[in-house]
Amino acid sequence: MNAAIRSVVRSAMYFGIDCIGIRRGYNGLIHGDILRMDAPSVSRIINSGGTILYTARSEEFKTEVGQQKAVDSCKLLGLDGIVAIGGDGTFRGAQALSKYGISVVGIPATIDNDIACTDYTLGYDTASNTAVDAIDKLRDTMQSHERCSVVEVMGRNAGHLALYVGLAVGATTVLVPEKPYNFEEDVLECIRAARFRGRTHYMIVVAEGAASAFNVAQEIKDAIHIDPRVTVLGHIQRGGCPSARDRVMATRMGYQAVEALAEGKTNRLICTVRGTLVDVDLLEGLSMKRTLSEQQYKVLKALTHA
Ligand code: F6P
Repeated sequence: MNAAIRSVVRSAMYFGIDCIGIRRGYNGLIHGDILRMDAPSVSRIINSGGTILYTARSEEFKTEVGQQKAVDSCKLLGLDGIVAIGGDGTFRGAQALSKYGISVVGIPATIDNDIACTDYTLGYDTASNTAVDAIDKLRDTMQSHERCSVVEVMGRNAGHLALYVGLAVGATTVLVPEKPYNFEEDVLECIRAARFRGRTHYMIVVAEGAASAFNVAQEIKDAIHIDPRVTVLGHIQRGGCPSARDRVMATRMGYQAVEALAEGKTNRLICTVRGTLVDVDLLEGLSMKRTLSEQQYKVLKALTHA
């Protein structure tokens, strides 16, 4: 997110546009929690995780009164356009603002990678690498003690992150919300297959939207009397130094968002489709349903049941 903020500010400067930062999301817009953004305000943030603007979920903005207050703020501040950086909730908010005639362009940023109209959302690569790094470290103990590990990965209601991470760590099995699992076939059979291949430790990756890692561990213990250790990676996945891919994508998307506003576009979402940056209609983009990669899932099935 910081790399995207930096790019938006620097690109705005390039286009001769004054820029302010709205802190704490839509709450900040409602209450005028803003700061002036210039070159020094975004220097040396390209490599830092999180967001210098803070972030918050706003219950007030969900109400019509809250939205009207936000629109009044926009008018008071003389805003010609807003670049909204975030996920689904951010864009539903952006859409609400655009109904009041505020120009909005969105940049998708969520580790869940669950926005249908874009192949990529900022943070996904860094979060994947963080999870892979953590699981690689866990594996050392699991391997030495010949244990089973059940690792819960974030992703809200989507399994993209868990599946991707599972493939990257060579997981024994991966449980994702998009594919309701059968415990016997999708967990026990995979452990047996791994054992048959000579494995003496097992790495079960569970998407938080599929099941609780603690429940899965208990089920394994009850069924086959091995005593898994549970790790919930949690917010560790949302922090840390962003990967090169995230920094470059954020920089490109930030520029594209400002360029779109400068061209008079509104209600657009900056997306990457087969490697190309495009802007799509916000409403259309949000109404699309993101499905799990069937190819990735097929490969996972093949490799975990072999
Ligand atoms: O949407 C990003 C995400 O990190 C999800 O993967 C996760 O379920 C959720 O946010 C966590 O939200 P909170 O920080 O409010 O606990």
